[in-house]
Parts: sequence; structure tokens; C-alpha cells
Amino acid sequence: MAKVRFEPSNFETTVTPGTAFVDVTDEHPQAEVPYSCRSASCGTCRVEVVKGAEAMLPAEDDELDVLEIFGNEPGVRLCCQLTLVQETEDVVLRVVDPV
Ligand code: FES
Repeated sequence: MAKVRFEPSNFETTVTPGTAFVDVTDEHPQAEVPYSCRSASCGTCRVEVVKGAEAMLPAEDDELDVLEIFGNEPGVRLCCQLTLVQETEDVVLRVVDPV
């Protein structure tokens, strides 16, 4: 279980390992993460993993390709590809391009 806070909305919830963050944000739109393609193509859902990066599933090639297009910003992942895989205390995700 991890406590997750989204910024800048400051919405907080808890997430269990094995959960995809796209499902969390679909269930809680107040997290305010923007999406478009939902398939690692557009970069709309970029989030900076401020805390908890070590507990995430590593990025695969299609995600890495999109992140490279956006300049490999430090700590940034695609929320549509992000899955918690380990127990951790706190996760903080900051939306790069808030709506
Ligand atoms: S919504 Fe397009 S890359 Fe995540």
C-alpha cells in the first residue's frame, strides 16, 4: 500500500502494488492528470515522480521513446504507463502540463 499525492491538485489516495495509475486517475478524476492517447504516444500525461520512483515498474521502450522526444526531463514518466509494483510509504506525482 502507498499513499499517493497528485500535484498541483493535492488530491490524495492510497494505491496497492499491481495497480496502474491510469485506473486510479480514471476512478478519481479530481487527481487532474490529463490524457489523450493512453498508449505511450502523445506525452500529454507526463508526470514528474517526485517521490516513490523506485516502487514503479520501469519504463519500456515505447515510453522511453516518448520521454526522449520531450527531452528526457529528470524523473518524468508517462502516467498512462505507470504502475506501482512495490510497497512504499509515499508517492508524489506532479503533472508536468496541468490543464
Ligand atoms: S496519454 Fe498519451 S502518452 Fe500517456
